[in-house]
Amino acid sequence: MRQQIAAANWKMNLTYQQAQELIKGIINIPHTLAAHQRAVYAVPFPYLTMVVEELKGKTNTGVAAQNCYTKTSGAYTGETSVEMLKSINVEYVVLGHSERREYFNESGDLLAEKVNIALTTGITPIFCCGEALHIREVGTQNDYVAKQLEESLFHLAEDELKKIIIAYEPIWAIGTGKTATAEQAQEMHAHLRSVLAAQYGEVVANEIPILYGGSVKGSNAKEIFSQPDVDGGLVGGASLKADEFVQIIQALK
Ligand code: PGA
Repeated sequence: MRQQIAAANWKMNLTYQQAQELIKGIINIPHTLAAHQRAVYAVPFPYLTMVVEELKGKTNTGVAAQNCYTKTSGAYTGETSVEMLKSINVEYVVLGHSERREYFNESGDLLAEKVNIALTTGITPIFCCGEALHIREVGTQNDYVAKQLEESLFHLAEDELKKIIIAYEPIWAIGTGKTATAEQAQEMHAHLRSVLAAQYGEVVANEIPILYGGSVKGSNAKEIFSQPDVDGGLVGGASLKADEFVQIIQALK
């Protein structure tokens, strides 16, 4: 079975104390993760080490950075390299989140470079894609999202692509409470898988986890995750509440 992943995206929220309370709270709520399931925590840079420490010995969990730079080291004041992340046992990095594309002008080309450096360093990219409302309204979302994959991933060799996790996050559903229906999520995920299959073949396409993101909650996770091409979720708001995030973890297939 493909890996099923519940990924928390804390974004730029919580103080250190609140972050520690949250991760301890999650750990203290009994929950199980099967061998094919993962709980991944994408937390702000200053809390990465703390969360790595708290999760030590907890199987099938991982920690993600929310961004990285395209170079391994050097005179790039304010940036964080994948080498640094690797050295503190961070295993994943979220790349191409719509907030970074929009507020920080991250282009498909820049993201391709970030994907490359992450893979070179052995860090797994969680690559985000998704369309804005005006694109869905004119019905061109399938081509739009396929192009995002093409721009930043399709230069990869097959064995590199196999290491990617994709997160489909329609922008109109992020933080709005408007979740895509389970059918809308399935439809896009199946489309993305067919786009991957056309480029890399069905065997590879069937191995890539595709997460859904956008107002996933404890109450709707099970229905969304039950769709055949939805392999879990990337969760913002609802990942800031311990009991709700555990409910989401337990909704994984
Ligand atoms: P949300 O955010 O769950 O608060 O909609 C999801 C995301 O942006 O990753």
